[in-house]
Amino acid sequence: MSRVIDEHRLYLSDAARVSAFAAALADVVRPGDVVLDLASGTGILGLLACRAGAARVYAIDAGGMAAPARAIARRNGLDGRIHVINGFSTHVDLPERADVLVTDQIGRFGFDAGAVEFIADARRRLLKPDARLMPSRIDLAVAPVEAADVGAAVEFWSARPGGFDMEPLREMTANSGHPRTLAADSLLGSVCTGGSIDLAVETTSIAVSAEMAIARHGTLNGLGGWFSAVLSHSTKLSNAPGADNRIARRGVVFPIDRPVAVAAGDRVAVRMRILPGDLIVSWTVRIFRGDATEPSDRFAHSTLRGMLIDLERLRRTNPDYMPTLSPRGRARLSVLELCDGRRSLAAIERDVYDRHASLFRDRADAAVFVAEVVTGYSE
Ligand SMILES: C[S@@+](CC[C@H](N)C(=O)[O-])C[C@H]1O[C@@H](n2cnc3c(N)ncnc32)[C@H](O)[C@@H]1O
Repeated sequence: MSRVIDEHRLYLSDAARVSAFAAALADVVRPGDVVLDLASGTGILGLLACRAGAARVYAIDAGGMAAPARAIARRNGLDGRIHVINGFSTHVDLPERADVLVTDQIGRFGFDAGAVEFIADARRRLLKPDARLMPSRIDLAVAPVEAADVGAAVEFWSARPGGFDMEPLREMTANSGHPRTLAADSLLGSVCTGGSIDLAVETTSIAVSAEMAIARHGTLNGLGGWFSAVLSHSTKLSNAPGADNRIARRGVVFPIDRPVAVAAGDRVAVRMRILPGDLIVSWTVRIFRGDATEPSDRFAHSTLRGMLIDLERLRRTNPDYMPTLSPRGRARLSVLELCDGRRSLAAIERDVYDRHASLFRDRADAAVFVAEVVTGYSE
């Protein structure tokens, strides 16, 4: 069984999600519209757009679904109206600008599947200036939550797994978002619906700042995060705990370093800063007992400290850094230069091996390297 097809089976078996998009597309699409289905997968959103009256749909997908999506369009008599393009949306050009954009690259916490970046790029290059966006706005919500399994995932690394000190992984686990289905009864207090992303304008950072009242006795393990996306004037899409028509998508728990017992009347002050383009979330949590003006506990976390990226790599993301090619980079450049339309693949393999012999075990190893570059960039 293909994992990818099974993933799409799950997307399509989420009846709340599919019917929300169907209703919203019926609201938004006008007869004759050109629709961009960004990150189209099976093409379901484009098919629904055609049903709502779209004249043409450009369905862009970077994965392996392009061929089946074309076949599906054909079997539904829509192959002249749905044009499936296999590529990453930011690298694709369209023959005309679209009237409507539809996408479900919303993720679990509203921005983490790339919606902000991909929609901004589409607005600049692929859409008419007054195009209608679906979603048009995404609201982020956070709340204090009890999530014992997230607390346990953090603590695990302090229990000397295998008899060794693995504390660095505790630090990384405590600084990562953990995908979780958040039950309504896991919430410990009020919900903050602070961050809101207007997809019609550029958004480079999102700030959430709130004080939330603890409503019941429990153990605070972190902040739960989820979204509500405006698809049309009548329809929202949400994975909020306890929401009517909640879609089958997990939210995220942002942990605190250690569990804290809380009681009704306590308060939790939260500041969250999100850089959607870099997928970085930083959160601070301060806990106040009753009417106290000074916090009893404070925590500061950031996914920057949870990433499997070393400092040397991070240095290379600094805008002042002046990059030079590594030996493998130079070999890759050789392959690209040798693809000049005058040399055979065998000649390129020979030439690359002769120029960069120290990089390869043998000629066969060089041939694999050349094949990777050639299949990616030649035509
Ligand atoms: C969430 S699934 C598709 C969902 C589909 N629109 C639906 O509603 O069932 C995301 C698909 O988009 C592709 N994808 C993600 N980001 C993309 C992008 N920026 N451009 C093109 N394809 C993208 C992935 O390969 C995957 O097949």
